[in-house]
Amino acid sequence: MTEQEARAQLVELASSLFARGFSVGSAGNISVRLEEGGYLMTPTNSSLGRLSAERLSRLDADFCPIAGDKPSKEVFMHRAFYTARPEAGAVVHLHSTMATAVGCLADVDTENPIPPLTPYFVMRVGRRLPLVPYFRPGDPAMGPAIAAAARDARAVLLANHGPVVSGRTLVDAVYAAEELEEAARLFLLLRGASSRLLTPAQVEALLA
Ligand code: 13P
Repeated sequence: MTEQEARAQLVELASSLFARGFSVGSAGNISVRLEEGGYLMTPTNSSLGRLSAERLSRLDADFCPIAGDKPSKEVFMHRAFYTARPEAGAVVHLHSTMATAVGCLADVDTENPIPPLTPYFVMRVGRRLPLVPYFRPGDPAMGPAIAAAARDARAVLLANHGPVVSGRTLVDAVYAAEELEEAARLFLLLRGASSRLLTPAQVEALLA
């Protein structure tokens, strides 16, 4: 995919996420690794619903801004994912309501707060979704904590903040972010009810 195509796709998918309520205001940020090297990133304080393809932040391979508007303050979060997961081609961070709600619960399993209820959650998000402790948005100290958690997880949940999801492509990362939000919704709907989880063997069969 050319840089121009990547820019157009980022704007289109971000707008779709915004239109369907996965982000509000200027919340959330997205980055994409470019085939020719370096990254595109959403500018800080931009709305995912009204991005401009020409004004997206252009970063070099070391995540230094080289063109476009000032990048998201969460550049450390995105860099941590690309460093920990060499296969990652895109990272999507949202404040989507249900996943963020799970990240605010006091009594969840911090190793894996959302259990394997449905196959598409497992297929898209993976075996685990670790909870990363709270950091102020934009705090560079979040980087090492995310890198450690992302080494064996495609996505993490930031406590009291929201999900961060990686994918081989931007489409993969967006699909995974959507499945994560729906899995969080199901988990919250079913809290207190006796529910049937996928068995470990069923989970492994989906990941094989
Ligand atoms: P930016 O506007 O800097 O991308 O920050 C938004 C956000 O979601 C912080 O977590």
